Amino acid sequence: MEQSTQMKVVVTGSRGKVGRATVQALVDAGHDVLGVDLVRPVFDAGVVVPGRYQMADLTDAGSAFAVVAGADAVVHTAAIPQPTGHPPHVVMQTNLMSTFNLVEAAVHFGVRRFVNVSSESIVGNFFPERPFLPDYVPVDEQHPLKPQDPYALSKAFGEQLMDAAVRRSDLRTITIRPSTVHNRDNYESNLGKQVRDPSNLSANFWSYIDADDLADALVLAAESDLPGHEVFYIAAPDNAGGHDFAEILHRYYGDQVELRPLRRVDSSGISTEKAERLLGWTAKRSWRDYLDADGRALPH
Ligand SMILES: NC(=O)c1ccc[n+]([C@@H]2O[C@H](COP(=O)([O-])OP(=O)(O)OC[C@H]3O[C@@H](n4cnc5c(N)ncnc54)[C@H](O)[C@@H]3O)[C@@H](O)[C@H]2O)c1
Repeated sequence: MEQSTQMKVVVTGSRGKVGRATVQALVDAGHDVLGVDLVRPVFDAGVVVPGRYQMADLTDAGSAFAVVAGADAVVHTAAIPQPTGHPPHVVMQTNLMSTFNLVEAAVHFGVRRFVNVSSESIVGNFFPERPFLPDYVPVDEQHPLKPQDPYALSKAFGEQLMDAAVRRSDLRTITIRPSTVHNRDNYESNLGKQVRDPSNLSANFWSYIDADDLADALVLAAESDLPGHEVFYIAAPDNAGGHDFAEILHRYYGDQVELRPLRRVDSSGISTEKAERLLGWTAKRSWRDYLDADGRALPH
């Protein structure tokens, strides 16, 4: 699991919320990072963006091959991260074809490790057209996948591309399914209401993840020697607000969702036991680093 040598790592979506944190974490870990995104490179002296950078549209196969050539690992965060802001076919085409092109390139060039950023939404929550509840909570990697919307479907197909890649090549793949991602800029706007009042329900049962904790998991995944294609949920161990999970589950959902054993009273609705066991990942940050008990931003 430990990786001591420097790797050449391509991070797609490097100017996005997850990508920015991931580039920084990989650079901090000593790796040679090439960021890739749709936005223009920064030319101005004094503007510090860690790592090297190339502007590329990864739905174009030639661009995907050009950026992946020579890489030891690819961390693929680029995507349209929800189904609501673009026409459905654009979400599907962007997410699926960028992943397809990158996997083709990774297999072609003999890249060792592909880290695929999927989503907790794959289970079917957040954007269902017909009502959805999970079969049980905390949700884990064994839970059946019941995606309805183009975003969740694009993630499900993306995970199938990882399965196929390890069937047909020596590429090792890891899929990370993050919970909703938050950083200093948006903890209050995203989670403040839930921290104050758990009747502000969330499709993921009050789960969340800090962007830097997610980045740590992506670094561990890039450095991992695990064979095949392994899938991991990544979420903070507690829920937003530190509420008594069993109590609020019963209060707002009655007996509609099976409650599985919890590791702590203020549990997340997502289990990360597998990531802790096989990746050696643990969360180091919490909403409490950024918000008070009333969900208001702490001074910094
Ligand atoms: N934000 C969340 O709460 C959350 C939760 C679960 C999973 N995810 C997943 O995490 C990943 C990163 O999400 P984010 O929140 O950082 O989103 P983001 O929108 O902040 O970043 C995504 C980046 O991908 C880039 N991109 C989009 N299409 C591209 C293309 N064709 N070629 C190159 N770059 C392209 C965008 O320009 C953007 O900078 C996504 O795969 C998303 O589905 C996000």
